[in-house]
This record gives sequence, structure tokens and C-alpha cells, in this order.
Amino acid sequence: MGMTATCRAHPNIALVKYWGRRPGSPPELNLPATGSFSMTMGGVHTTTTVSVEPTGADVVLIDGKPAERRAYDRVVAHLDRMRASAKSQPHLRVVSQNNFPQGSGLASSASAFAALTVAANEVLGLGLSGREMSVVARQGSGSAARSLFGGWVLWNAGSASEGSYADQIEPPSHLPVVDLVALVSRAHKKVGSGEGHGLADTSPLHAARVASVAPVLDEMLAALARKDLARMGELAERDALAMHGVMMTSSPSLLYWEPGTVEILHAVRAWRAEGLRCWFTIDAGPNVHVLCHGDDAPRVQAKMRALGYEGDRLLACPPGPGPTLLREHLSG
Ligand code: PMV
Repeated sequence: MGMTATCRAHPNIALVKYWGRRPGSPPELNLPATGSFSMTMGGVHTTTTVSVEPTGADVVLIDGKPAERRAYDRVVAHLDRMRASAKSQPHLRVVSQNNFPQGSGLASSASAFAALTVAANEVLGLGLSGREMSVVARQGSGSAARSLFGGWVLWNAGSASEGSYADQIEPPSHLPVVDLVALVSRAHKKVGSGEGHGLADTSPLHAARVASVAPVLDEMLAALARKDLARMGELAERDALAMHGVMMTSSPSLLYWEPGTVEILHAVRAWRAEGLRCWFTIDAGPNVHVLCHGDDAPRVQAKMRALGYEGDRLLACPPGPGPTLLREHLSG
């Protein structure tokens, strides 16, 4: 058992989304109703150091501050899951740092639970494989299953916990893409994804979307294999709109879009009509990810700047790597 380990992991953006859990499955397992597909995001990351804590309780520091109660409990529940299969069950100290501001509107749970899983696997000496860590990370946050791998990643829905993990389909270098993220709003979302997944099947549209995902994933993977970014972008836009259709028609209704969100959706389609290779997708929030061909990214970025998205309102993320263990540890 190593005393200290540090891991850096990246968030991911889904092009085919996970929204809604497998019917009848225990919510805490985060078993999805469908498979999903993502790009791991370079340039943004969470770094997490895990060490054995000599005092009588787990300690969790996030971005320099003791974690709030809910975040603390979520991290400890994850450590408990991992300690359950370890030879010894020490208290642990978790120090975590995001290089993107918390509350920037960019979800950090995928990178956070991927980094925590990899670092705790080292410290507890569990010797888990990438797939096994994907299964564990999934239980911290569903989308974290995909951040266990770099590049272009498929999360197989599976029917039982051990079979629900992600795999890398292609490495980051496969496609020259940049994800330009417009941070439309920094407001904390009122309904987080954990609660949202539980509302999906109150929408009359959910069953239709679930039925559509398997063929969409097949088409997405075929388009990825032939490097057909245009088809991938079209499919990603349509699935994002399908997911938001489900959200908007749930009870209660989830309306994550702000006026600024809709402005960019129209703008992206107008830019595409001008010949720029760019497509949008949106997670459970108001921010818009504009996926562009690398060669067109500077022009798309200039257009986004004209809409007010620059400085800390814009992130530019190429496909990123999987988690890496670092030699240098965070103090705190
Ligand atoms: O991992 P969670 O429970 O935060 O769910 C992620 C939900 C979406 O970001 C909206 C879609 C996805 O597949 O990442």
C-alpha cells in the first residue's frame, strides 16, 4: 500500500448523452438507461492527492477549502466503496484542485471522481484495471466512467454493475477537433444531474430517446471510424436537443437554457451555413460546447468573441488524455 498518490484527470463532453438510469436499478449504482459517447477534454483538469490520514476521520479539501457537507459525504461514500475491497481501511486525506474555477459552469464531477478513483486505487493497493476503475468511478458520478480514458470514449450501458464501464475507441489524435466552451452563466444549477436522472422517465419523450440511442451510437462510431466530423456533429446536436427535450418535458420541467444559450445555438447554425465546420452540444446547464474542426477553430473563436465569449467566458479544449499519475503531490 503506497502512502500517497496524485492523479490528474480530465472532464469529458458527451456527444451522445447519458440521461436517465436503467429502469428498476438502484440509483446509487448509476446504471444508465443507454450507452453514451464522449470526447475527453484537454487543457482542463482536476488534480487529486490521496494520502493516509493519521487522525480519526477522512479529510477532504477542494480548491484550498474544506469540502462542504454534501461534497464531503459524496467523497467519503466513494472512499468507503473502495476501502470495502482493500486489505486495510485507513482514514484518508483528499486534496483536490481544479484548474478551472468551481462554479464556472463546467462540471467537475467526472474529472474529480476519475482522479479520486485512480489515486485511491494506488494508496489502497487495489490493483484495479482501467475497466474496473471505470466501474468504480461510475458510482461516484456516471460520466466519470468515461474520464478513465482519453480521446474518444464509449460507455457501454451494461445490465449489471460489473458490465457498465467505458472503453477508449480512438486516441486523442484521431480527429483534429477543438471544443470551444461558451460559459453563458455561472449561476449554480438548481437541479443537479443526480436528481435530473431520476426525473427522466416522467417525460413522455424519454422512451423515444432511449429507443433511438443504440442506432445513433452505431452511426456515431461508424462516423468516428471514417473521421466524418460533419456526421458526428449532426448526431451530437440532435442528441443534445433530444436530451433537452426530455428535460423540458419532465415533471417538474427542467429548463437549463438561458437566452444566451439560444443565441449561440442560432449563431452556430448560421456560421455553419457560411461554411465553418462547427456544431453545438449542451450538458445539464446553460453553457454551450461548440465542437469545431481544428482548422476552423480560430475563425469560430473570433465569432464567439464578438458575442462576448472571451477571457474567462471561453475555454478552448482539444481532445485530452486519460488520467495520469503525477510524482508531485498537492500539499494541504
Ligand atoms: O455524471 P452525471 O450524473 O453528472 O450525468 C451526466 C449528465 C450529462 O452531462 C448531462 C450527460 C453526459 O453523458 O455527460
